[in-house]
Amino acid sequence: MTDSKHDDQRWGTRVGVILAVAGSAVGLGNFLRFPGQAAANGGGAFMIPYFCALLLVGIPIGWAEWTMGRYGGRKGMHSAPTILGVIGKGAAARYLGVIGVLIPLAVSFYYTYIEAWCLGYFWQYLTGGMGIDVAAPVADQTARAAQFYSDFTGRGENGVIAGGSIATFVFWVITFAVNIYLVYRGISKGIEKFVTWAMPIMAICALIVLARVLTLGTPDAANPEQNVINGLGYMWNPNFEALANPQTWLAAAGQIFFSLSVGFGVIINYASYLRKRDDVVLSGLTASSTNELFEVGFGGLITITAAFVFLGTANMIGAVQGGTFGLGFTTLPVVFAHMGAFGNAIGAIFFLMLFLAAITSSISMYQPSLAFFQESLGWSRKNATTLMVSICVGGSFLVMYFSRGGIFWSTIDDWVGTFFIFVLAMVQIICFSWVFGVDRGMREAHHGALIEIPHFYRFIMKYVTPTYLLLVFLAFCWQNLGSWLRAVAEEPLRQGALALIGGVALLLVICTRLGEKRWRAAGLDIDGRHEAE
Ligand code: PFF
Repeated sequence: MTDSKHDDQRWGTRVGVILAVAGSAVGLGNFLRFPGQAAANGGGAFMIPYFCALLLVGIPIGWAEWTMGRYGGRKGMHSAPTILGVIGKGAAARYLGVIGVLIPLAVSFYYTYIEAWCLGYFWQYLTGGMGIDVAAPVADQTARAAQFYSDFTGRGENGVIAGGSIATFVFWVITFAVNIYLVYRGISKGIEKFVTWAMPIMAICALIVLARVLTLGTPDAANPEQNVINGLGYMWNPNFEALANPQTWLAAAGQIFFSLSVGFGVIINYASYLRKRDDVVLSGLTASSTNELFEVGFGGLITITAAFVFLGTANMIGAVQGGTFGLGFTTLPVVFAHMGAFGNAIGAIFFLMLFLAAITSSISMYQPSLAFFQESLGWSRKNATTLMVSICVGGSFLVMYFSRGGIFWSTIDDWVGTFFIFVLAMVQIICFSWVFGVDRGMREAHHGALIEIPHFYRFIMKYVTPTYLLLVFLAFCWQNLGSWLRAVAEEPLRQGALALIGGVALLLVICTRLGEKRWRAAGLDIDGRHEAE
C-alpha cells in the first residue's frame, strides 16, 4: 500500500534475501545469549527442548511469516498490521499486527546501544586492550573488566553517558548513522549489499576465534583440569533433571524466537519484498539453518569453552549468572588478556564479529516501521525515515540516559523482546493456520517452492504449534508475570520504560487508524473479504 510508483522495492537475488534474514537472525543472541542460556539450563539437556521448539515452533512460524509476507507484498503491503489484517480478515488482526511494528522498533532502542558497546570494545582492542593484569588474582582481573564495563555503559548512575562518558555516545552515533544509512539506501542497494559481504566476514572471524579457542589445550599447567575438553563438557554435559523444570522449556522457546527473529514482525516485512514465484520454503529453512550453525556451532563452542579454560569451574558460576552481557563484556575480556601475544587481536576479531552480527540484525529492526509509516500515513520514504529516526533517537536517548543498572533497557527487553514475541507469534500462527486456513496457506507457501514441506506439518501448524505456544506462554506468565509486575511497581525506571513502550504503541495505533481511513477511501480490501487465491 505504499505508493508503488515511488517505492517499489525488491530483493536483487535469492541468496541476498536469505543472507538478509539470516543476518537478522544471527546476532548477539547467538554468541552471548545462547551459551549463557544453555549453560544455565541443563547444558546438553537444554538441546532437547531447544530442538523441540525449533522444529515445532520456530521453523513453522518462520514459514508462515515468509508466506504471509510474500502474499502481502504482492498486494503492495509491507508491514505486519496491513498484512495480518488481510490474512486474519479484519480489524482485530490488524491492530494486533501493530505489535509486529512495535517489537522491532522498541528492541532497536537498546539493541543499537549494545551494538555500540561492541564497536567500542573492538576499538579498545585495536588500540591496546583493556589493561588487565594477568598476574593479579582472578577476582581482581574480573573486577577491572567489570569496572571498565560499568564505566563504558554507564551502569553506575543515570546520565553518566550524557555527562561524561562521551566515547560511548560517539560510538552510538556512528552505529546509528551506519544503520540509518543502510536502511535508507533501500532493500537491495543498502541492506542486501551490506549483508552479502558482512555475513562471510562474520563467518571468517568466527572461524578464526573458534580455531584459537579449540587449540588452547591446557594453558595453565598448574590447573590441568582446566582444558578444552572439560570446557566443552561444562557447556554440554547434560543435566537431565533440568528437563523437569518448566523454566528450561521456557528459556529454550524464548531463545528460539529471539535467535531466529521469528515472532518479531521482521521476516514478514523482509519477505514482502519477494516476487510472486520466489521460493519461500527452502529460503526459510536455509536462513534458519544458517542461524543454527552460528548459534550451536560457533556460539556454543566459543564463549563458554574459552571462559572455562582460563577461569575454571569456580569462576564460571559467576560468569554465567552475570547474565547475557556479563559473559561477553566482563568475562571474555579477562579471557583475552590470558591469551598472551595474540589476545588483543583475538579480542578485536571477536568484537568485530559481534558488531557485524549486531548490525545485520539491527538493520532489520528499522525496515518494518519505515514501511509501516509509508503505508499508513502515505508519506514518502524520506518523511517516513525522518519520523522513524526521530522516534528511535528519542527512545535510544532515554535508554542511554537512564543507564543505571541496565534496568531501563532490560525492562524493554523483558516485555517487548520476550512477552510480546509470544503474543505476536500466537497471532501469526492463528491467522495463518485457522483464519487463512492451513491448506490454503500451504498451497500459497508452495508457489515457486524449491522443496516441499512434509505433509505432516499441516497438522503441526494447525494444532501442535498453537498448543505448544499456548502452554509455554501460560507457564511463562505463571512463572514471571507476578514478579515482573511487582518489579514494575517498585522501580520508577521500569515504569518509565513501560510508559515509553505504551507511548510508542499508542502512536502506532493512531497511524493504523489513519491508515484505515486512507486505505478504505482508496477502495482497498483491507479486511481480506474478497480474497481469491
Ligand atoms: N535475532 C537477533 C539475535 O539473535 O541477536 C535479535 C533480533 C533481530 C531481535 C531482529 C529482533 C529483531 F527484530
